[in-house]
Amino acid sequence: MASIKRIGVITSGGDCGGLNAVIKGVAREAYAHGIESVIVPNGYAGLYNLVDLPEVVLLNAERVSRIEASLAGSEAGHSRVKISKIPDPQKYERIRAGLAKFGIDALVISGGDDTGSVVVDLSARGLACIHVPKTMDLDLQPYSVGGDSTVNRIATFVRDLKTTGLSHNRILIVEVFGRYVGHTALRGGIGAEADCILIPEVPVDFDVVYQHLKTTYFGRVTRSDVKAGTYIVVVAEGLRNASGETLVDEAAGVDAFGHKRLAGAARYVRQQIEKRLKADPDLADFMKKTGMWVPGVFELPEVREVTPGHLVRCGGSSAFDVNFGYAAGAAAVYLLLEGKTGRTVVSVTGRTISHMATEQAIAHREVDVEELALFESLGTCFGRAPRPFTPEFADATLPIPRHF
Ligand code: F6P
Repeated sequence: MASIKRIGVITSGGDCGGLNAVIKGVAREAYAHGIESVIVPNGYAGLYNLVDLPEVVLLNAERVSRIEASLAGSEAGHSRVKISKIPDPQKYERIRAGLAKFGIDALVISGGDDTGSVVVDLSARGLACIHVPKTMDLDLQPYSVGGDSTVNRIATFVRDLKTTGLSHNRILIVEVFGRYVGHTALRGGIGAEADCILIPEVPVDFDVVYQHLKTTYFGRVTRSDVKAGTYIVVVAEGLRNASGETLVDEAAGVDAFGHKRLAGAARYVRQQIEKRLKADPDLADFMKKTGMWVPGVFELPEVREVTPGHLVRCGGSSAFDVNFGYAAGAAAVYLLLEGKTGRTVVSVTGRTISHMATEQAIAHREVDVEELALFESLGTCFGRAPRPFTPEFADATLPIPRHF
């Protein structure tokens, strides 16, 4: 068993659900082993500047009990700083000096792929660190804390928006965070029974989207006794345009990790739909038949964008993320005690702590598009001609992989 007296906890990258449970999991497990834990504040910015800090926050029983695990965000704070990008040739010496100053022997670092790449870097330099996977984007190989909270929030927002959509007979486009993958849009969209889900993994044919919209939305309004209907599109912020380029807001610049800020997917989708509505010879007839047509005033159904932005990752944590966060934080302490470094916690099942090399854990994971055909057979549009779902069957063997 490695001799560790003090563990530093770092949360890095974007805030999200479950992180406070990770912090509490580390602190309580460490305490149970007679080890102290402290907060290294504000992600890697704090790690870099640790040497200059007058003190660090000790996670003793009293301080830990003041952290609310069901709140999203992180008591440890965040930054999007990548150590390797700091233009200071003495940066690693500076980090070591900071850790020595506060007697920190090991680190538990929770974050996504950029954060994980620093874990790989630091552990290769001899620092003991364990990675707890965290990203609402769900683009890591293992489950990452924050994903479930976000998916639930998206599903709730989208479902709630239906009342506005129905009241105004609007077509609504909801753009959600998720960077270059469609996990959050897909799972949140299905969770809310969205009509159409557009993700970066599927090149979108807007004629297909329009045909689906026409059948679904026109049909809904026409059949309704009060002539009410809506059509909801959930679009991932990382959607690509017809030439396969991600829609980037050049004016928004880059974040501290150097990533371009994404924006404009919902606007792009709205424009594509409006263009087709305007060109549709059946539209005036539909508006007249449903009693909506007012010449020069209301000739087209409204298409509106809604961009919840950070609302999808703030506020509260789902119970699942609190469970996972607590367990993963505690598991990270056990891995450190086992002398492990550069490893990512994958799961805790029974008394088995699964872990893998952080380098592998942070490999980009996209939506498995094979699964989309199943939802297509249930009526969801993914912006492509629906494909038949051709299942394969497998005898599941025990133990079945599970999160709980
Ligand atoms: O990495 C998580 C994430 O929420 C992405 O989905 C999104 O693109 C990005 O963070 C937004 O970052 P920020 O809060 O720094 O603007």
